[in-house]
Amino acid sequence: MKSFVKPQHRQAWKALQALSQSEQPHLRELLKNPKRIEQWQASGAGISIDYSRQRVTDDVLQQLLALADESQVMEQAQAMFRGDVINTTEQRAVLHVALRGSHVPNPPWGASISKQVGHELLRVCMFAEKVREGQLKGHANESITDVVNLGIGGSDLGPRMTTEALGHLTRESFKNKVRVHYVSNVDAWSLYTTLATLNPARTAFVVQSKTFTTQETVTLATSAKRWLLDAGCPEGQLHQHLIAVTANPEISQAQGFTPEHTFGFWDWVGGRYSVWSAIGLPLAIAIGAFAFQDMLLGARAMDEHFMSAPKDQNLPLLMALLGVWNRNFLGATTHNIAPYASPLGKFASFLQQMDMESNGKRTHIDGSQVEVATAPVLWGGLGIDGQHAYFQLIHQGQHLVPMDFIGLRTERSPLPFAAEHHRVVLLNMQAQAQALAIGRSPEETVQALRDSGMDEAEVQRLAPHRNYPGNVPSTTIWVDALTPRSMGGLMALYEHKVFCQAAIWGIHAFDQWGVELGKKMAKDMEVAEAARLKV
Ligand code: F6P
Repeated sequence: MKSFVKPQHRQAWKALQALSQSEQPHLRELLKNPKRIEQWQASGAGISIDYSRQRVTDDVLQQLLALADESQVMEQAQAMFRGDVINTTEQRAVLHVALRGSHVPNPPWGASISKQVGHELLRVCMFAEKVREGQLKGHANESITDVVNLGIGGSDLGPRMTTEALGHLTRESFKNKVRVHYVSNVDAWSLYTTLATLNPARTAFVVQSKTFTTQETVTLATSAKRWLLDAGCPEGQLHQHLIAVTANPEISQAQGFTPEHTFGFWDWVGGRYSVWSAIGLPLAIAIGAFAFQDMLLGARAMDEHFMSAPKDQNLPLLMALLGVWNRNFLGATTHNIAPYASPLGKFASFLQQMDMESNGKRTHIDGSQVEVATAPVLWGGLGIDGQHAYFQLIHQGQHLVPMDFIGLRTERSPLPFAAEHHRVVLLNMQAQAQALAIGRSPEETVQALRDSGMDEAEVQRLAPHRNYPGNVPSTTIWVDALTPRSMGGLMALYEHKVFCQAAIWGIHAFDQWGVELGKKMAKDMEVAEAARLKV
């Protein structure tokens, strides 16, 4: 790679700046072109995006693509896939892509990594099936019926979100008698309300922590052990109820987790990119090993798309570039994720960690200070609910909030009248995207109020309140149907989008030093408090 050039010094960046300062057409004008919707589409790996409602012209798009070239985004992606040490502040490779490519012949990351990944994946899958079939027995020789995941951040959000998204498969198959629960919060109520309905003799805990030192998770695990002991589990049989997933097995084994019940991953898997590893164990228990592997295949399909699709058809790259345009040139400080499918209720929370922990940075890879904007505040939730809560601000408030609408082309709910529900859901999604894009001008508002039969004085009084500025950019992401495969593709799409943006901004996406100071202070305070109590 050539020596680092700050983004604002790149030619294409300057051209984009000039374009953003010249008068740009309102989306109302852009969308008058009937061909726009057809042209501004791209698809791959069962997912397509419609970005006709982004505030981009042909000129802007050309310069964005030039920016990707000048920033060497795809060269940087190749370095990641090769296993180069791209996380230089921690001296680590970044190879979550290898977790979903253990079957790939001649992988760029090398056969030995594939072998380790394949070995651990097989262990995870076999164990998940054993649990699902009721073969995991507790201390009283009763089958485990409830698995409680204890973990936080990347050791919770990925498996929790996908369990909710894909859990309907469990009900459909009627095979799985095991329920999976998630506790991430060290607040005692969180653990209590989960455990209150469970039978300790039939409950197992999956303690997930890459480091196995996270205070919240360690506290939860300690209480879980006490709950088992208090319920009569002999100390010598506690291990039957305990499973560890970690990149630090020395620590978990010192805490009584057996090697058979310990599943590993590696320092080259970031926590927020770890659902593809053994961290996916609770998900595999919930949806089955085959479905879990299907999710990996979906992510692999997106990896292949990312590495081979032409730039102007490349979903992650296009989404990254549109995000850069909105953030750096249109000045949007925030970005909303609005899935229109209730199983994706936790998708925005999952993306929050992926995006904000990765790209919430202010230092370039060469140690110099960043002088352009980096990650926006990413937030969101189910679009239908948002419409009746915070969409008011997006329509008429003062923030420019670019949106990702996520819709399913087909809905597979077993409810007999599901098609009618799906029709209403998609109608709303499309109406919101259009209303936010074209808005309603003051003249149109006056006309609409007059047409409603309102008297002129009332029309003039209300018109200022009933305008919609519009021009809110959005991308609609269409997923063919919600399946493990498409879920894998959707998550990988966002992972690579985050990667591309970091590559353009010249920041490290795979460390998270920002979260360390607070952790250290909590530790320091704990030590000081213990010393004070001793005195
Ligand atoms: O505090 C942030 C963080 O380090 C995340 O990056 C990580 O996913 C989470 O904590 C949990 O860490 P661990 O898996 O080591 O318990």
